[in-house]
Amino acid sequence: MDSMEAGLHTPELDDAARRGELVDPFGRAITYLRVSVTDRCDFRCVYCMAENMSFLPKAEILTLEELDRLCSSFVARGVRKLRLTGGEPLVRRGVMTLVHSLSRHLASGGLDELTLTTNGSQLAKYAGELAAAGVRRVNVSLDTLDAEKFRDITRWGSLDQVLSGIDAAQAVGLKIKINAVALKGVNDDEFPSLIEWAHGRGMDLTLIEVMPLGEIGDSARIDQYLPLSIVRARLANRFTLEDLDYRSGGPARYVRVAETGGRLGFITPLTHNFCESCNRVRVTCTGTLYMCLGQEDAADLRKPLRASEANDLLFAAIDEAISRKPKGHDFIIDRRHRRPALARHMSVTGG
Ligand SMILES: C[S@@+](CC[C@H](N)C(=O)[O-])C[C@H]1O[C@@H](n2cnc3c(N)ncnc32)[C@H](O)[C@@H]1O
Ligand code: SF4
Repeated sequence: MDSMEAGLHTPELDDAARRGELVDPFGRAITYLRVSVTDRCDFRCVYCMAENMSFLPKAEILTLEELDRLCSSFVARGVRKLRLTGGEPLVRRGVMTLVHSLSRHLASGGLDELTLTTNGSQLAKYAGELAAAGVRRVNVSLDTLDAEKFRDITRWGSLDQVLSGIDAAQAVGLKIKINAVALKGVNDDEFPSLIEWAHGRGMDLTLIEVMPLGEIGDSARIDQYLPLSIVRARLANRFTLEDLDYRSGGPARYVRVAETGGRLGFITPLTHNFCESCNRVRVTCTGTLYMCLGQEDAADLRKPLRASEANDLLFAAIDEAISRKPKGHDFIIDRRHRRPALARHMSVTGG
């Protein structure tokens, strides 16, 4: 049995139990961890990456064993939901080894959900294995059903490949939520057809407001920004939108579309009103823990991970970081300077 199959050792579990669950200074329990397993991607979406991205050297990236140890430490401290993201999580070499290994926490009841956010390009290849490992739902990012537009937005992606991935995932029983970034003048005419398509296939759809993260090259973000309040008002002219109480603990608000019976979400990260219920933290593929998507403050977990085989240094670093989780974020799209409010890319923190 290799180290990943061996799982958690009892002394570490004892230590975790002694330290208890992760609760931040505002009384919010941290039960949801999003982990970026790679900064690399086979697409170059215009709002996410520049075409010529330079990626991190391998030595800086956590190994699969380190990722497993890190995730397992959070699970031992009360995290119930784990989302793998990226970059594109399914292009990380050996990612399925990690998924299989982490699935032991589903079997043990330590974890309620193991899921991932993907661009769908590799889903046809991995859907069966994901389902077999206990993954029940995946989020697939898809902004348009127009092949040419899809190529323009993703630069390198193929719509057909993603649609085949979605077919394969549904065929093995994975539930899919589609995430679409709302882009002014690009896909805003398509939301009704995206709603009908997604709901017609039994998939929820969530629209995401563009966030000011990272330098992305020529396409100034301010030109892409489309407030979802406007989108919602336009959709309300066409559909009956019924407010739902359903909350994910994150920045999404949901409505039921009466005509389709499906659920539609709006993620408006530029508003503050979800921060009070925030239950999540994010780790990058280099082991940097971000306590808030919209703040620069971070903690290095790679150093304690690599400093000792036992987890006490790691737990101490996590505790210290959670004690600094801020109350909320402070996003702005700076209209004067046209610069991102935060320099890091979404592909680093994984969204
Ligand atoms: C960074 S991607 C990583 C996972 C995977 N590659 C994917 O595209 O689903 C996660 C999500 O962030 C979204 N995203 C990326 N950059 C964004 C930005 N600047 N504003 C809003 N959403 C963004 C993507 O559309 C995607 O839904
Ligand atoms: S949004 Fe996802 S698919 Fe698109 S470039 Fe970023 S990481 Fe890749």
